[in-house]
Amino acid sequence: MAPDIIKKVNDAGVIAVLVIEEVKQAVPVAKALLAGGVSAIELTLRTPVAWDAAKAIKDAVPEITLGFGTVLTVEQVRNAAKLGADFAVAPGCNPRVIAAAQEHGLSFAPGVVTPSDIEMALEQGCRILKYFPAETSGGMKHLSNMVAPYNYLNLKFIPLGGVNVNNAADYLKSPLITAIGGSWIAKQDLIQGEQWDTITRNAEEISQLIKH
Ligand code: 3PG
Repeated sequence: MAPDIIKKVNDAGVIAVLVIEEVKQAVPVAKALLAGGVSAIELTLRTPVAWDAAKAIKDAVPEITLGFGTVLTVEQVRNAAKLGADFAVAPGCNPRVIAAAQEHGLSFAPGVVTPSDIEMALEQGCRILKYFPAETSGGMKHLSNMVAPYNYLNLKFIPLGGVNVNNAADYLKSPLITAIGGSWIAKQDLIQGEQWDTITRNAEEISQLIKH
């Protein structure tokens, strides 16, 4: 990842994972998150409207650090870069996708959950990694044991998958973690139900925890 993006993600401390079904929901959800102090988004490429939703957020809420999630193909990398995304992440570690991100100057964090994943990512020059799925893989205990041999490389991780306000503190206190992330702040049903106030409250709750 580029140093300015690392700083943005680190300063944000939390990334809200979004699955957006309708373009009209994009700007209100981004504004609701920002109102609660959450300034970084992972907009997943799991719905057909994701690209248009990203464009809408970039135009209307430029304060947001906007990343794409579930980036699985070289073409998606190309589109994300063209759209001016700040970063992209994937659940897994695909060397062709990582190489494409480097070619297009797109900050990219591949997903890792085993030492072999880490070594594949290292070989591709990645130093910020998505730890996914964090909770079912053993949370911080698994991560700190897995990373022990690589500690001298000063790798940083973004845990996602089962992370929420109740277990966030475990991750936030570790120097291995640059930011946490998850869908609980703006769950799909909250977005579908246009419950913007609840999303802002969820964002405020995690923002308070990050500050302490
Ligand atoms: C992701 O796409 O990063 C994960 O689906 C987030 O996992 P969560 O839904 O358990 O927060």
